[in-house]
Amino acid sequence: METLQLRNRFEEVFGIAPDLLAKSPGRINIIGEHTDYNEGFVLPTAIDKAIYVAVGKREDTRIHLFAEDFKEGFETDLKDIKPSEVGWANYILGVVHQIQERGKVISGFNLYVDGDVPLGAGLSSSAAVECAAGFALNELFGLSFDRKDIARIGQLAEHTYAGVKCGIMDQFASVLSKKGHVIRLDCRSLDFVYVPLELGDYEIVLFNTHVKHSLASSAYNNRRTLCEQGVSWVREKYPEVRSLRDVTLDMLDETVRSRDEDTYVKCRYVIQENERLNRACRALECGDIEELGKQMFLTHQALSTEYEVSCAELDFLVDYVTQVPQVVGARMMGGGFGGCTINIIAKGYGKALADQIAPLYKEKFGLELEGIFVHADEGARIIA
Ligand code: GLA
Repeated sequence: METLQLRNRFEEVFGIAPDLLAKSPGRINIIGEHTDYNEGFVLPTAIDKAIYVAVGKREDTRIHLFAEDFKEGFETDLKDIKPSEVGWANYILGVVHQIQERGKVISGFNLYVDGDVPLGAGLSSSAAVECAAGFALNELFGLSFDRKDIARIGQLAEHTYAGVKCGIMDQFASVLSKKGHVIRLDCRSLDFVYVPLELGDYEIVLFNTHVKHSLASSAYNNRRTLCEQGVSWVREKYPEVRSLRDVTLDMLDETVRSRDEDTYVKCRYVIQENERLNRACRALECGDIEELGKQMFLTHQALSTEYEVSCAELDFLVDYVTQVPQVVGARMMGGGFGGCTINIIAKGYGKALADQIAPLYKEKFGLELEGIFVHADEGARIIA
């Protein structure tokens, strides 16, 4: 996105030049799904598609927002920050609320938002909006938050103003990623290492299902509740346990299985997903891309049949590519119930494969299939 275009649009909308421009990207996740809110591990990175904001201080206490995607403005006052009916505005209002919660005093501001992260595709456009707003306001008002603070502010904005009890992965990747690398993040301590994303003869291609089933956020919160229920049963016998991170399969068998089979299966998924991530990460470090891909296929199976957050469209796309020799790994990505699959495909073959699947996908679901080519990029930054 052109900085000049951002600057010009801000001026057209607000009648004054912006003070600064910032961007924060969407993300992919190689493996480690639904592990973040269980204090486990994830392996995400930012992509070369981002949300851009232009911001400028105001003399009063008003907040004036404008979202290019919706061609819509929103106005409120710093003294009256509360969740709104306007969905997109909530991501920014939630961030302002978190800034206020931390006792920081800011003046009114104008904020213009645009971007090229496809919405509803499971690429964390909402986290990117939160982080772009948080990053820009931090700089504009000299708030001295560090990058982890900004990720946390974005996560809590999502909890309180969007109603999704998400983990930290999306915001963390949006703010802390490094070009050409994935982040192996410990979601308990927030310690992390950058692992080079070197795929040899392969590359990452996303297939966008173009669906987002409406149960996505309620099912997400439900899975989180089941995991917490499991932990509370384990704790009756093992009080030192804090999260599924501390639970072994034996402990789970002993304390949860007889209480509720569904809770047991969901918790077991999380424990085994952390193990798959470890295997996948070692494979990536050794350049064994076939093994990495194998773990991704296994993750998909488990997300679909055990954690039950997939859908017919995602399953169709993953099932199809299991028969294709040029694809070494694929799985649904993110919270589930729609969005994209992530595929590890022989370099240069992604377009032909998307063209091959698209008519079949259209015939079965009446939807367009879109191949999205992404690269691991760096996290949030000030661009002007
Ligand atoms: C969504 C959430 C993340 C994470 C994933 C599943 O993207 O925002 O915190 O839980 O789902 O791994």
